[in-house]
Amino acid sequence: MTAFDTVIRHGTIATASETYKADVGIWNGRIVAIGEALTDANETVDATGLLVLPGGIDSHVHIAQPSGPGIVMADDFESATRAAAFGGNTFVMPYCLQAKGQPIREALKNYHTLADQNCHIDHSFHLIIADPSEAVLGQELPALIADGYTSLKVFMTYEDLALSDLQILQVLAVARESGALVQVHAENYDAIRFLVDKLEHDGNVGPYFHAKSRPIVVEREATHRAISLAELVDVSMVVVHVSNRESMEEIRRAQQRGLTIHGETCPQYLVLTEEDLKDLGMEGAKYVCSPPPRDLASQQACWEGLQQGVFSLFSSDHCPFRYDDVQGKQPPNARTSFRWIPNGIPGVETRLPILFSEGVSKGRITLNQFVALTSTNHAKTYGLTRKGSIAIGNDADIALWDPKRQATLTQANLHHGADYTPYEGLEITGWPVATMLRGKFVTRDGKLVGGKVEGRYVSRAAPFPGKGATSTAA
Ligand code: URP
Ligand code: ZN
Ligand code: ZN
Ligand code: ZN
Repeated sequence: MTAFDTVIRHGTIATASETYKADVGIWNGRIVAIGEALTDANETVDATGLLVLPGGIDSHVHIAQPSGPGIVMADDFESATRAAAFGGNTFVMPYCLQAKGQPIREALKNYHTLADQNCHIDHSFHLIIADPSEAVLGQELPALIADGYTSLKVFMTYEDLALSDLQILQVLAVARESGALVQVHAENYDAIRFLVDKLEHDGNVGPYFHAKSRPIVVEREATHRAISLAELVDVSMVVVHVSNRESMEEIRRAQQRGLTIHGETCPQYLVLTEEDLKDLGMEGAKYVCSPPPRDLASQQACWEGLQQGVFSLFSSDHCPFRYDDVQGKQPPNARTSFRWIPNGIPGVETRLPILFSEGVSKGRITLNQFVALTSTNHAKTYGLTRKGSIAIGNDADIALWDPKRQATLTQANLHHGADYTPYEGLEITGWPVATMLRGKFVTRDGKLVGGKVEGRYVSRAAPFPGKGATSTAA
């Protein structure tokens, strides 16, 4: 018998804090040795000139989520996780969306059915709480959190999703008792409704006006309010997809006051601006997301948030739609007003190359910050105990990166279900050349390896101890 199933030799390992040359020994899906001159393996992978990084963990993706009448998301679990793997990821956290009046367990059953045996990489689910009824708050949610669904998302905007402040407080209180973590989509729904009505009334209906209907103040106010609600309940929170300086500074102030508020930003806020929405017809629609991309100063602010640790999470917010007419997937009514354009852009495959190239290769962040922002912090924040770092005992979820490889992002070379990439033509330095899930190659040299889909559902630990037990015991 050999000591290892696989040894990765001569690579440069990077973790969230260190960069060093060593070999990695893998046995039974786990990293079992890190050292010099490891031999005695069934397979030896030569990683000379390559970086050996933990596989990316994308803690914010939308897959196969209902998105309004007649609108179908462009990825199922197979295509989304295939694209993710080609982009250097080994774990995604999509959402389970509860419909109004629906038991969350029923929604979960549907998502598991779609995901099981269809994922190329591992996954877990965040729960979107659209209807925090007494039954949900009192029984269902605490039981689900105990079962390993330990993160929730609440929305302050969107029809059918926006919760009142009272409802958000009620969800936060359950999270505090149970040790779960709540993500918040922070935009002021009433302000958006007011602006959408006004813009439409004035005949301003093109995609560009989507951005104008959600100016920075709409996001900053909601961010401040969300943080205040978390402070009131004394609970942690993740403010997701932050787009600008004012919201970033709200989070920084909260962190400086000792609150555990995590910030997340996404590629669209680093490389796109609202000018991209200016094309008429459906071209501008391809950049519609909420919050919208802003301007160069906001991009700079998001970089500072990443550099200075205000943002600990860099996710894609992958939310893919098609704008061609394939299988009737073009959003109905989208041409009549920006109101009807589905919100979201694809990005699960391009997240890591964009941050590597614009961040590491251009000297804005270190390689170790890259690892922390794209993998390690996601595992720590969301309770993935065996993932997110090249370390003995962890799952051998590994991405091999060629830091010098040049590429141009183009739809023709991507693997997602969308019919475009908002990053078409972006020049990239640094590319994930192979991805390994629990010690087995999923992608290698631009090809999918093997015919099997081996991604598993992973139940997560509660990120916090939960304050319910201690308070009743005292
Ligand atoms: O526009 C966006 N961000 N779409 C995805 C849904 C969400 O709010 O995260
Ligand atoms: Zn499942
Ligand atoms: Zn959101
Ligand atoms: Zn999202």
